[in-house]
Amino acid sequence: MPRRNKITIVGAGNVGATAAHWAVQKELGDVVLVDIKEGFPQGKALDLAESSPVMGFDSNLVGTNDYDATAGSDVVVITAGVPRKKDPATGKFTSRDELVETNRKIVGSVTKQIVEKSPDSILICVSNPLDAMCHVMLHESGFPANRVMGMAGVLDTARYKYFISEALGVSVEDIHGMVLGGHGDTMVPLPSHTSIGGIPLPELLPEEKIEAIIQRTRKGGGEIVGLLGYSGYYAPSASVVAMVESIVRDKKRVLPTAAFLKGEYGYSDLYIGVPAVIGKGGVEKIIEMKLGDKEKQMLEVSANAVKDVVKLLPY
Ligand code: NAI
Ligand code: 2OP
Repeated sequence: MPRRNKITIVGAGNVGATAAHWAVQKELGDVVLVDIKEGFPQGKALDLAESSPVMGFDSNLVGTNDYDATAGSDVVVITAGVPRKKDPATGKFTSRDELVETNRKIVGSVTKQIVEKSPDSILICVSNPLDAMCHVMLHESGFPANRVMGMAGVLDTARYKYFISEALGVSVEDIHGMVLGGHGDTMVPLPSHTSIGGIPLPELLPEEKIEAIIQRTRKGGGEIVGLLGYSGYYAPSASVVAMVESIVRDKKRVLPTAAFLKGEYGYSDLYIGVPAVIGKGGVEKIIEMKLGDKEKQMLEVSANAVKDVVKLLPY
């Protein structure tokens, strides 16, 4: 019998547990959920496993507080860390960048433990601040850059596409486009590269409506935090599972991915969101698309915002 894929998800909180949910529903492989809270990943894994006879999936689920059961994982998703929250007293949200100090320690320690047990795995970072945490994972894993990537662009693009579909009253399936850059308020939606059933977006929506969608996309994470008091997880977990699926099924999808640039788009030694071919080899290729002057400028603003956070890391 062929071996099933093994997917480890570290952090069994909102994003991690929901990612496990989507992954087993799609039968992408067996799933190991790891968390520091005792009983928590075990409870999540068991509850989800008990849904399998109803939902009809045959993935094994294990919940654990240590790394033994993760050995030999093909793909590891790291969601461990602290999410953005709204302070009830001031109404202010934690910014992604404020999370850097706490989450770099968590992500660094998790990465070290993962690579000890799964030296050939492909790592996907979800923890924020996303682009900087990818640097932590690359550094601590010692893996080649094609095996360390981050999820943000798939989520930002999903939000962008959803807002367009809502504005036009058309299916989300017929909207093609991408959001590049860092996962922050300076991310770069690309209306000139967005089409609906092949028709360029600017032919269907007036400029001011497109601009409003761009601004809403940029603040999409904050909009959910404002409503819930904590960060979203359905769309984020679905987005990371799209990346996992492209890897384990070797689909070679072209996905906006936080990838380590080595000169592409004029940047070196920096993780930012760019279109990439995602397959069994991880980031198999970074696609360099032609950007207009305004788009290049926006990408630079976004890259500089990522660099400012990366500077806070001790390496
Ligand atoms: P959550 O608080 O629901 O879950 C985080 C889990 O990590 C908790 O269960 C916690 O016990 C666990 N954890 C903490 N330290 C750990 C350690 N050392 N080892 C193992 N587990 C540990 O948070 P949520 O909503 O799931 O978010 C997780 C992270 O993902 C946050 O940093 C959040 O900002 C980020 N995020 C990123 C997105 C993106 O687009 N890249 C989108 C949504 C969230
Ligand atoms: C989001 O964009 C908080 O980064 C998270 O929802």
